[in-house]
Amino acid sequence: MAIEAPATRPANPRFSSGPCAKPPVFTLDRLSDAALGRSHRAAIGKAKLKDAIENTREILGVPADYHIGIVPASDTGAMEMAMWSLLGARKATMVAWESFGSGWVTDVVKQLKIDAEVKTADYGDIVDLASLDFDTDVVFTWNGTTSGVRVPNGDAIPASREGLTICDATSAAFAMDLPWDKLDVTTFSWQKVLGGEAAHGMIILSPRAVERLESYTPAWPLPKIFRLTKGGKLIDGIFRGETINTPSMLAVEDYLQALEWAKSVGGLKGLIARADANAQAIHDFCAAKPWIANLANDPATASNTSVCLKFTDDRITDGAAFAKAVAKRMENEGAALDIGAYRDAPAGLRIWCGGTVETSDIEAMLPWLEYAFETEIAAL
Ligand SMILES: Cc1ncc(COP(=O)(O)O)c(C=O)c1O
Repeated sequence: MAIEAPATRPANPRFSSGPCAKPPVFTLDRLSDAALGRSHRAAIGKAKLKDAIENTREILGVPADYHIGIVPASDTGAMEMAMWSLLGARKATMVAWESFGSGWVTDVVKQLKIDAEVKTADYGDIVDLASLDFDTDVVFTWNGTTSGVRVPNGDAIPASREGLTICDATSAAFAMDLPWDKLDVTTFSWQKVLGGEAAHGMIILSPRAVERLESYTPAWPLPKIFRLTKGGKLIDGIFRGETINTPSMLAVEDYLQALEWAKSVGGLKGLIARADANAQAIHDFCAAKPWIANLANDPATASNTSVCLKFTDDRITDGAAFAKAVAKRMENEGAALDIGAYRDAPAGLRIWCGGTVETSDIEAMLPWLEYAFETEIAAL
């Protein structure tokens, strides 16, 4: 029986989990106001960097007494900077349920050699945050981008705790509610939920994190690129847009434009609603098809950004080859780009559902997923 291809394709087939789709209104013309060829320390450059910080604060609802900085090396830079600057003052708890969290565990245990309890869960599951000792410094990832499993809320984190919470929120910020009173260090990169450009990271520090920075000096040397203090005092300028080294003013302009777009769709609430609607369309699809399921075992932890799927059909013998063939077919058909599961994750697909993706594109893509599945099954 011939399998019929769907009649229409998504207007935008970009469903990559990073760099993510740009806002639907994006055109290169929108960057024409970028302060190109000018010093980032000139008034115009500084003003744009400060705007990026203040608009981030406004949209994410970051409290006024938290510091927000733009730092080098994307989310990885922001997380490394936090871990190398803050950890070691007390015992740490390292929490991981997918590849990126595992990377932070390796850094802390093998590179920094910090006394740490390591708590892990398999892909699809999550570590119970209520089981952790928050009098230690706890390092965790809010949304596991490679497993599609997220922290459902911050209820398990005590508001009064001795340790710091260091949270990699790169695929959560601008798509999920982040409880600022429970987070001492929060990081993300521009290339994720708002579809910005890579290379720049954001670090958000609570007053307690600043207190630690100003009262504790790690035993190891810190490269300039990680240094947040000078002479035992926070380098305030970093949190006003006086970046440690030279940023891309083109990327800054792009981020400013993305923030403007975010405001136009209702800010954080609007962004969350968009991601929720996208993820729900996929959840509904999975519920209706016996051959595909969410990798997240508990729906309460299922991500609304990096939705990870596994094929459950008994006829499939080589899961990795099958998933790869489906993703390739989707790409060749122009129906979905970059939807293969992450290289270290179980075989399957990962479809980005953050707010820059239009629900109509998810809806137009799903019949192609069925078509690609049926075609590959027929070819077995
Ligand atoms: C949870 C998580 N942490 C860290 C990273 C690394 O981000 P970057 O490449 O922006 O440094 C990613 C990238 O996908 C991620 O999803």
